[in-house]
Amino acid sequence: MEILPTGGGLGAQVCGVDLRHIGDSGFAEIRQAWFDNLVLLFRGQTLTDAELIVFSKRFGALDLAPIQETGRRFVDGLPELYVVSNVMKNGEPIGSLGSGDAVWHTDMSYLPEPPKASLLYALEIPPTGGDTGFINMYSVYEALPDRLKQRIAGVRIKHDGTYNSGGYVRQGVTATDDPRAAPGEYHPLVCTHPDTGRRMLYLGRRRNAYLENLDLAESEALLDELWSYCDRDDFAWYNRWKVGDLVLWDNRCTMHRRDSFDPNSRRVMHRTQVKGVSPPAA
Ligand code: OGA
Ligand code: MN
Repeated sequence: MEILPTGGGLGAQVCGVDLRHIGDSGFAEIRQAWFDNLVLLFRGQTLTDAELIVFSKRFGALDLAPIQETGRRFVDGLPELYVVSNVMKNGEPIGSLGSGDAVWHTDMSYLPEPPKASLLYALEIPPTGGDTGFINMYSVYEALPDRLKQRIAGVRIKHDGTYNSGGYVRQGVTATDDPRAAPGEYHPLVCTHPDTGRRMLYLGRRRNAYLENLDLAESEALLDELWSYCDRDDFAWYNRWKVGDLVLWDNRCTMHRRDSFDPNSRRVMHRTQVKGVSPPAA
């Protein structure tokens, strides 16, 4: 097994592994590389859904997939599997997020205990577009000026449960654009990573975010200021997908986004998500 850092703000490619056959010491190496690099790319995999689930469970119990935009869970008998796709079948999308841009976000952080990891496996990929970007939220925290670090110490942020990253309203939610009224969960804005002990900024997503106990205008201004530190290419890395890519990200200390792609092409990805804990305050 060889671990090759991407040279970007985070991420490494792991070469020379078949994820269907990983022993305990191999897994320990992968886990440590994941803590060190935050995002791991494994190319050339051939995984059935069952094999994706088996590998994912090495990291811990899985969360059920969020309800898809159509209100259904997609793969019968595999409620852990989330389908990200623009492909239509019988007039309905087989997955979520369409073909547009998906904004920077952390998966399912509107829950009290958001997943610690997500694993996304590429089954069909368009010829161009649809790249997925990741950003290092340890680096973003470290880049904040001391004045801002002091300002946000002990502050909690509401992680919105209204919209998914494609801008679609989640099932069972009445849409609102008032961040104070929107459903969601409060988490510490600065968290300690439970496994690495490092501090990270925990933003979740921008839309409908709200900083507890602040005037809305004050909350919006401070959030905009914090988000301006995420706009740095040197903290990011993008995967240009190939069929057979499995990307594993640490869902606590990273955010991700996706570029749009031609809606007439097909993109099919299967995702699992590993249960996490309530994010600990720094
Ligand atoms: C996800 C996600 C983006 C993509 O699976 O959580 O945000 O590139 N996917 O498909
Ligand atoms: Mn996501």
